Amino acid sequence: MEYRALITTEKNKNFINSIENKDIADLPDNDTLIKVKYSSLNYKDALSASGNKGVTRSYPHTPGIDAAGIIENTSGNKFKPGDEVIVTGYDMGMNTYGGFGEFIKVPQEWIVKKPKNLTLSESMAFGTAGLTAGLCLRKLLKNGLKPDDGDVFVSGVTGGVGIISLMLFKKLGFRVSAITGKMDQEEFLKNLGANNVIDRNTLDLELISPLQKPVYAGGIDAVGGKILANLICSTSQRAAIACCGMVGGLSLDTSIFPFILRGLSLFGIDSAESLIDVKEEIWENFSSDWKLENIDENIKDISLDELPDEIDKILKGKQIGRVRVVYD
Ligand SMILES: NC(=O)c1ccc[n+]([C@@H]2O[C@H](COP(=O)([O-])OP(=O)(O)OC[C@H]3O[C@@H](n4cnc5c(N)ncnc54)[C@H](OP(=O)(O)O)[C@@H]3O)[C@@H](O)[C@H]2O)c1
Repeated sequence: MEYRALITTEKNKNFINSIENKDIADLPDNDTLIKVKYSSLNYKDALSASGNKGVTRSYPHTPGIDAAGIIENTSGNKFKPGDEVIVTGYDMGMNTYGGFGEFIKVPQEWIVKKPKNLTLSESMAFGTAGLTAGLCLRKLLKNGLKPDDGDVFVSGVTGGVGIISLMLFKKLGFRVSAITGKMDQEEFLKNLGANNVIDRNTLDLELISPLQKPVYAGGIDAVGGKILANLICSTSQRAAIACCGMVGGLSLDTSIFPFILRGLSLFGIDSAESLIDVKEEIWENFSSDWKLENIDENIKDISLDELPDEIDKILKGKQIGRVRVVYD
């Protein structure tokens, strides 16, 4: 049986994305076949689709680290045909064909049963970006962060992880400083609940002092590099930062002072390899206490054919919010 998928092909060191017909028999030999109804676009997908060998070793390949759909058949014992399920991360979309195809075949251990009070479509409005925001929030709350502690920050706030982090913080009653490179989005961010919108270009990126005025009670950093180094120096006593991104740089040049003089904690988040029961906990939260009633409002729905253009946009840092792939 044939299905449609985005295929990334390597030609003379260039990487080309096209939509092709594939055969289900060519999918990897895993136990569970899923008909994908929705996927979503993440920065990591754009890296895979542009030949980043740290993400995907060999091509041709179908990226897509997110998928929500219906079990077609399974030789495992956890699910049955017809179950509505969510798959994010592990090796899917990296070196196992991913959600940018109408079918995926994955091990049952990677699959989460969709919670009752969340639709498949809503789950892909969150996708890995939302899951990552949720994992960051979970770490900060476990560290004791409360709305009364003071303002929190979100960096890279117009991106997928950033927007959902902002919305989740607001849902739980926090005051949020939104740090962005897109000041033209100030009104949009304020409408989403940001209390302050800060131009990232106004931050002291050369860090003249290793300890700056402690203005934040914690925060979520989706950027890394010099922005994260600045935020580490600007966060208060016993607080914590959850970091997950690297769009602003891979290295972190900071000093030990915020850690030994303010007791700061820096939590790293790896959503792909998170334990399945932790993923289940976050999806359950998205369907209950952390339910975002307005999650669908800022989503751009696209077809598979529109994906190559959106991949270019996210690579250039021009994407605003989340992009959801909708299959027929
Ligand atoms: N660790 C994990 O498990 C995990 C999971 C998901 C994503 N991530 C990572 O988290 C990051 C964000 O992912 P995403 O899906 O939200 O990506 P995204 O939608 O492309 O958002 C990234 C945002 O970062 C800001 N940005 C872009 N280029 C920048 C630069 N050169 N310097 C500073 N800021 C810049 C922009 O927001 P503003 O203009 O508003 O600043 C952009 O919208 C990526 O590095 C991604 O790989 C990690």
